Amino acid sequence: MNAAEPTIGQPIIRLGQTESTNDVARELARAGVTEGAVVVAEHQTRGRGRDGRTWASPVGGLWCSVVLRPEDGTALGLLSLAVGVAVGEAVQVAAGVETGLKWPNDVVVGDRKLAGVLLETVGRAVVAGIGINVAVERFDGDLARRAVSLHTLAAGPVTRDAVLDALLERLARWYGVWRTDRSRILDAWRPRDTTAGRRVVVRVAGRSLEGIAEGIDDDGALRLRLPDGRAERVLAGSLESGVSAAPGV
Ligand code: BTN
Repeated sequence: MNAAEPTIGQPIIRLGQTESTNDVARELARAGVTEGAVVVAEHQTRGRGRDGRTWASPVGGLWCSVVLRPEDGTALGLLSLAVGVAVGEAVQVAAGVETGLKWPNDVVVGDRKLAGVLLETVGRAVVAGIGINVAVERFDGDLARRAVSLHTLAAGPVTRDAVLDALLERLARWYGVWRTDRSRILDAWRPRDTTAGRRVVVRVAGRSLEGIAEGIDDDGALRLRLPDGRAERVLAGSLESGVSAAPGV
C-alpha cells in the first residue's frame, strides 16, 4: 500500500443471508463505522440495482458493499467510474478475464453483464455496492441472455474470496487515485468503453433519452448525440440517494 492509498476491507462483516448489503452498510455508515468497512453476503433476498431495479443475488455471486467517507463530496460521477475500473481490474487479476465497461460502471463481457455497481450517498458517506456474478449457476428469465457468470469464462477455478481480495486491493488503489489524480480515471476508463459509437437509451431522472453514445467528458458525463443532431450530456455525477443515471441498450 502506498501513502495515498486508503485501507479498504477493515472490518469485513460477513453475512449469510441479508436483504441487501447496501442497506446494512448504510446503517453502519449512519452509526459511524470507519471508512473502508465492507459488508459481504452469501445471498441477498432484496438485492437492489440502479434505477430502482432488483438485482438477482443467489448463492455463488459476490455481493458486497463498501463504506467510503470522501472529504470532497463533488465528482462522485468520477468515483462511480473509478469503481467500475476497479471491478474490471479485479476480475482480470483474480480470473484472467478481460472485461469492458458500459457507462457508467457496468462491467461487461461482450453484450453480457458480469458485474454492476450501485453508489448511494448516506449523509456525507458513500456506500459502493458491488455485485459480481462469480459462480452463478443459473440466470432466470431475461437475465439468461443478458448476464454472464465468471466461472464460465475463466480458464481455471475462481473463488469468491480470490475475487474479493483482488477487489478490495483495486478499490483501495482507485479510490486513492480518485482522491489525488482524477484524470487517470478517464485514461483507464476510456479504452474499456464498449458503448462509444453505439445507439443507447439512457434513463435519467425518470425520462429516457435515446441517441448515439460519443464517449465521456472529463467530468465523467456521457456524451450523447440525439436523433435530431443535438448533443446532450448526461452527468454520471448527479447522484441522488439510491439513484444514479443508468444506461440501457
Ligand atoms: C446495477 O448494475 O444495477 C447495480 C447492481 C448492484 C448490486 C450490488 S450487490 C451488493 C449491493 N447490494 C445491493 O442490494 N446492491 C448492490
